[in-house]
Amino acid sequence: MLKFWEDFFLKNTPSKEAVVQLESLKSFTTEHKHKNSRIALVTSGGTIVPLERNTVRFVDNFSAGTRGSISAEYFLKHGYAVVFMYRPKTLEPFARHFSTLSLLDTLEEKSDLICVKKEKLQVVKNALTGYSKAKGENKLHYLTFTTLSDYLWLLREVSQCLSVFGKDALLYLAAAVSDFYLPTELMPVHKIESSGGPPTITLEIVPKMLKPLVNLWAPDAYVVSFKLETDVSRLIDKCKAAIKNYSHKMVIGNMLQTRRHKVVLVDCSSVNEITAREEEEIEEKIVKELCDKHQQFIDM
Ligand code: PMT
Repeated sequence: MLKFWEDFFLKNTPSKEAVVQLESLKSFTTEHKHKNSRIALVTSGGTIVPLERNTVRFVDNFSAGTRGSISAEYFLKHGYAVVFMYRPKTLEPFARHFSTLSLLDTLEEKSDLICVKKEKLQVVKNALTGYSKAKGENKLHYLTFTTLSDYLWLLREVSQCLSVFGKDALLYLAAAVSDFYLPTELMPVHKIESSGGPPTITLEIVPKMLKPLVNLWAPDAYVVSFKLETDVSRLIDKCKAAIKNYSHKMVIGNMLQTRRHKVVLVDCSSVNEITAREEEEIEEKIVKELCDKHQQFIDM
């Protein structure tokens, strides 16, 4: 009998857009393998689960891409090459400082010129310097997904691609990934008609991909997953259960309500809370801790 996750890939094929993106990834990883770079895959944003093949309606998973985009910047600061796999229209590294309205807030008109306001100069400079450095050194590679099936397909392909880095690869899975989906063969081709009355839609469980990821796709990589909960009494137990089930290196637990200033890092032997003040970015501390742990793992 086929394993659940193999069955998922047989029944849910990737879009052309997902497949096309792999070519450019290969030249990025080849370059960084030659340079002996450390490499991080950062996933960010939420997946959608379509309810129709010609999709008008879908089920969404919550994530603005804040965690992933900020973390990607800090991995770059620590010298990693970064594959940033994200949902379009969620936050991107460096550009995150300038959402459409706040971009206009940084600018002013002076005579015939458009200038950056003096009080915004530092923010713009920092973002521009970081972005130009990452671009100039070809250290930041973007991949995009929207649907659950593209996300999981890309996750498999990218982690297999990064497996050549052995212990130098770190996978940081901050994207919010749906646990439920509607298999393609059960999806109506066209928009569900309201004239048919309220629809009954039965979603199926998505197989957890952490197991094949850790055992088969990138067995030597340092794998970090996230756990999002809304009931605080379940958080630590769920993180511990994930470590036990998948035997990866670290689970970062966070509560929906407090995720910006409190997380808990759980590995097979410890539970370590990290907090941040209002003006701090908690991702700076998370990434610093992970880079240290990754170094220890490489040195073992
Ligand atoms: O982007 P922000 O707004 O800043 O929010 C950040 C965040 C709250 C989304 C992020 O910090 C976070 O918690 N992301 C993980 C959310 C999530 O999908 O949790 P989960 O319990 O559904 O999944 C746990 C892990 O299993 C995840 O690492 C996921 O990659 C993995 N998974 C999930 C589904 C699946 N079929 N296979 C998997 O391997």
